[in-house]
Amino acid sequence: MDARIISEPSQNKFLVPRKAFTDQAVFEREYAEIFNKCWLYLGHASELPEPGSFLTRKVARRPILFNRDRHGEFHALFNACPHRGAMVCRERHGKSPAFMCMYHGWTFGSDGHLMTLPGAAGYPKDFKTDPQKQMVHVPRLDRIGDFFFLNFSHDGEDLATYLADAGDYLNLVSEHSESGMAVTGGTQEYAIRGNWKLLAENSVDGYHAACTHSTYLEYLKNANGALGATPLEGGGIDLNNGHAVIEYSAPWGRPVASWVPLWGEEGKTEIDGIYGKLQKRLGEKRADRLAHKNRNMIIFPNLVVNDIMAITVRTFFPTAPDYLEVNAWSLAPVEESDWLRKYRLFNFTEFLGPGGFATPDDVEAIEKCQQGYAVGGDAKYNDISKGLAREGEPSFDDEMQMRAFWTEWDRRLSAAED
Ligand code: FES
Ligand SMILES: [Fe+2]
Repeated sequence: MDARIISEPSQNKFLVPRKAFTDQAVFEREYAEIFNKCWLYLGHASELPEPGSFLTRKVARRPILFNRDRHGEFHALFNACPHRGAMVCRERHGKSPAFMCMYHGWTFGSDGHLMTLPGAAGYPKDFKTDPQKQMVHVPRLDRIGDFFFLNFSHDGEDLATYLADAGDYLNLVSEHSESGMAVTGGTQEYAIRGNWKLLAENSVDGYHAACTHSTYLEYLKNANGALGATPLEGGGIDLNNGHAVIEYSAPWGRPVASWVPLWGEEGKTEIDGIYGKLQKRLGEKRADRLAHKNRNMIIFPNLVVNDIMAITVRTFFPTAPDYLEVNAWSLAPVEESDWLRKYRLFNFTEFLGPGGFATPDDVEAIEKCQQGYAVGGDAKYNDISKGLAREGEPSFDDEMQMRAFWTEWDRRLSAAED
């Protein structure tokens, strides 16, 4: 494959080939070597609150049925009928102890076993127990806290090993609440005419904020009391295996638990109360980090957790080299008060939502990059070197976190070649 990155840190050089964003062969290879082999985010336990709860979701182009049986056990099944292949469950979510295929009426239990089929007399007696006639389980399903991941490969490292240092950052998100975190409602769904790796980069790009999101920053400055005095500072951390985060302080408010003047004295009392409980539960150091630091994290290849004002959990999959589909959810502490939830959800839609201040600008930037790649010719590489020449502490607007992502991308694609 001639789409390799060029990494020469001693020369302050890190270049990504533009072919990686446009080439059909690279795209197919990504499905074979990355999406079919890595642990991929499936959903959050709070989305399946009871025995019998189910949801359907597309993960890496495949329809998945994610559900709980009557004992409360979680299952991830390929959502395709063993008879002729029809998608068995056509609902987005709900509660059901069984699933009937609409085509010929075969009915499956929540663990995928064939329960009944019309016209059974036409089949041999042991037909129903034939392993080939059951819905198929996704090869591997595992969880860290309430975050569920699946893996389409039977082989390879377990989830904890795969997540490396990113596991602790996911735990930190779960620790926002003493009674559990929950997805707050619907899903943000949108698509972008750009390569999926542009969104991976963009999600942890501190460099673009001042330029791309100047409108939003101006708006915050003009919204009375929406910003406190805390400076924007911090840096990127390599979490290994292609995962990375930028962790930084910022002037905006966080429902857990950084107060801004806009929230008034009553709000201050509540925020102080939340912070006091965090200190008691987690200790001073971890509580301070949880409450007062923002985190934009990429878990390779395509899970983004933005723990900023709201918490956004986002996954995205390509359907072509120049097209990607996004799903995003908001997570919140179950015990959160109504007024804090209001601020959280306002931010979820106001900034990161598809109609908010940030996402439309990011979509524009991503689509303009994709369009720019059409020039071809000698313009073969993107520059991702910011920070390599810096001495001392990394800055939140350096590009180390993207280099971590790209280095893993390159390793996985080239290992297959070798
Ligand atoms: S395809 Fe499902 S019952 Fe026939
Ligand atoms: Fe952005």
